[in-house]
Amino acid sequence: MVKISKSFFCQNCGNQHSKWQGQCNSCKEWNTILEEILEPSTVNIWKSKDSLGDSRSNMPIAIKNITLTPEFRLSTNDSELDRVLGGGLIPGSVTLLGGEPGIGKSTLLLQISLSFKGVVLYVTGEESEKQIKLRANRINIENTNCYVLSETQTQKVFKQILKIHPSIVVIDSIQTLTSEIIPNNAGSISQVRGCASELISFAKETNTPVVLVGHITKDGAIAGPKVLEHMVDTVLQFEGDSNHIYRIIRAKKNRFGSTNDIGIYEMKNCGLKPVSNPSDLLISDINLSLSGHAIAASLEGVRPLMIEVQALVSSAVYGTPQRSTTGFNSKRLNMILAVLEKRAGFKLASKDVFLNITGGLNIEDPSIDLAVIAAILSSHYDISLPKKICFAAEIGLSGELRPIPKLDQRIIEAEKLGFEILISANPKKTIVPPKSIVIKQLNKIEDLVDYLFS
Ligand code: TYD
Ligand code: MG
Repeated sequence: MVKISKSFFCQNCGNQHSKWQGQCNSCKEWNTILEEILEPSTVNIWKSKDSLGDSRSNMPIAIKNITLTPEFRLSTNDSELDRVLGGGLIPGSVTLLGGEPGIGKSTLLLQISLSFKGVVLYVTGEESEKQIKLRANRINIENTNCYVLSETQTQKVFKQILKIHPSIVVIDSIQTLTSEIIPNNAGSISQVRGCASELISFAKETNTPVVLVGHITKDGAIAGPKVLEHMVDTVLQFEGDSNHIYRIIRAKKNRFGSTNDIGIYEMKNCGLKPVSNPSDLLISDINLSLSGHAIAASLEGVRPLMIEVQALVSSAVYGTPQRSTTGFNSKRLNMILAVLEKRAGFKLASKDVFLNITGGLNIEDPSIDLAVIAAILSSHYDISLPKKICFAAEIGLSGELRPIPKLDQRIIEAEKLGFEILISANPKKTIVPPKSIVIKQLNKIEDLVDYLFS
């Protein structure tokens, strides 16, 4: 009798344990360890070995003899996704698209499948063909080359691939796939890893790009895409608040391009629409005559973005004042308030402070510090800021304004949107601004208070 060997795997990070335990030593998650049958063989076969012929015994080739053509990348016909990928999909690459449920992963990939010129196979393990058709009707792009396959077994998927020879394969999602050579349930770490490595070897051997959807669950019940991140070539993250219409796609890992660029979409009734000028949409003209609003010249990746910051300062009713933020780090807000109190003499300890970044964006860029301060002071004094003014500087603990990178790009974006003054710190190198915008360089928070409110 063949002895079945088993082991314990963390369903969140994939770490192997010799016995069951409540917490994973590696990722420190609780209740994520499950017993799984060990795979009989780690070799994966997407096609029988006999039919592969010589393809497994490639000859070494001198790197200088490998030629790349400009049309080497396959354009997805989606300007934002192409930008994030670094120009398009590389043949034979495997891309993982992660994101929370309902963010729009299936919508984005169906949209790409429909707008692609060649044959695309969209494999769905979650929805029926009819559901995909309903979504395609909403997106409303005619395409006779887009095939939908509702299937969860990798071997059956490969059989269909060999029939229609698609130029791109989309798998929605990797957690629903199973391979018949792996004995565990769909979604378990060994299934996810096994199916992914079958797909990776298929992609590499046939030079077909494969795009995988990977779910992120908060409780770690399904194997998260963490395990896959090491295996695939590119990891894309789809972010945003599903209550807001904006979605950001960014590369967390990209073997063929930079990870700095982002793509911005707007979720409409007819699918995701690329936003080519996001700053225009993020700033609302109506609000700017009210107090507590300031515009930051921020940078998301390498993309300049004008962002509206809203603050509300009111008297604290309870003993401990409230600090509440949306889209901004609350610890950073506390730091900024402490600097304001210590260096500029504001008694904000008895005030509730609420801060909001509009559009549902989550901003990490420290250069919006100055706009946060300007919005807080504007709400505190109840005086609105001049309309055509924007801010870009980081705040130090001594209340000094610190220079920020890529000021010239921010100035160009501010000028494009009609701003007349940009307040910043003294830059390290001299910048020649366009004629229509004035760069006001300040040293300390006190200078800002004098400039805006005296
Ligand atoms: P979906 O792509 O299914 O998300 P995911 O695959 O990441 O779970 O859909 C996301 C949401 O988008 C869903 O709540 C419905 C909405 N939606 C629109 O607002 N407009 C559209 O055109 C489509 C297709 C979906
Ligand atoms: Mg989906």
